[in-house]
Amino acid sequence: MQPSFDVCVVGSANLDLVATAERLPGPGETVMGSAYAEFAGGKGLNQAVAASRAGARTAFAGAVGGDDAARQLIAVMDADSIDRSALVELSDAPTGRALIGVSSSGENSIIVVPGANGRLKPNDVRAAAGSGRVLLVQREVPAAVVREALGAAKRAGALTILNPAPASRVDEDTLALCDIVIPNEHEVQLLGGVSTLLDFGVSSVVITLGSRGAMLCRPGQSVLAIPAFSVEAIDTTGAGDAFCGAFAATMSRGVDIVEALRFASAAGALATTVRGAVPSLPHREAIEALLTNAE
Ligand code: RIB
Repeated sequence: MQPSFDVCVVGSANLDLVATAERLPGPGETVMGSAYAEFAGGKGLNQAVAASRAGARTAFAGAVGGDDAARQLIAVMDADSIDRSALVELSDAPTGRALIGVSSSGENSIIVVPGANGRLKPNDVRAAAGSGRVLLVQREVPAAVVREALGAAKRAGALTILNPAPASRVDEDTLALCDIVIPNEHEVQLLGGVSTLLDFGVSSVVITLGSRGAMLCRPGQSVLAIPAFSVEAIDTTGAGDAFCGAFAATMSRGVDIVEALRFASAAGALATTVRGAVPSLPHREAIEALLTNAE
């Protein structure tokens, strides 16, 4: 059966409560902030919006609560033409929240309170997970949901991509279901390193390095560096999600992985130039313009 979507994203949806300060506080410290704002976010929703804005027909499977925050996030899904038939709305749960501090250099620190995201069940995502050419999943929903999504997508013949964020260990059965894993430097260590991932049958490991670009590691091939794009970064929140969503969208078009990574790298760079997660995720035209100007 033909997949109904280019990309299905299974993951979290949060309302981001964002405070900006000259620098981030250390443990036990209070610093004075300069601004406060609320934005749509959550790694899952961010990646779904990024994929849709990059041109992919996108479905999102996740959970929200029965509050005002849920209505705001649903409005974002609709505005970005994201199919939400597999969105679970739990009237007795709060929507996920992320408390985010952003410094004047654009760095952030994030505490996620999962709320409804933590109540998502494997059964909720089974059908949707196999409905795209590409499945993209992160780690802000229960581990059993992540495993089920990857398994269902594999059975349906989809390309499976895991972004193992936030950093934590991932069980071997789950890793064995991944075609591509996109960790950052810290996450790849927690997963046992690149060779361990390749030994589990992962065909490509993409290590994201922030402003230093990314590295593509494949079995039996030398490591390939994907250069970063130079931009004026003001807020790095959501940049990794822009990268993953744009990458999944491009891979769904059957584009070569190196070209897809260049596109993703441009999307990630653009996302750092705008405040907030969802508001910063670039559209395909802007990504292509950056790629053209860099040539
Ligand atoms: O990756 C950025 C995201 O992490 C934020 O939008 C926040 O909600 C957390 O999930």
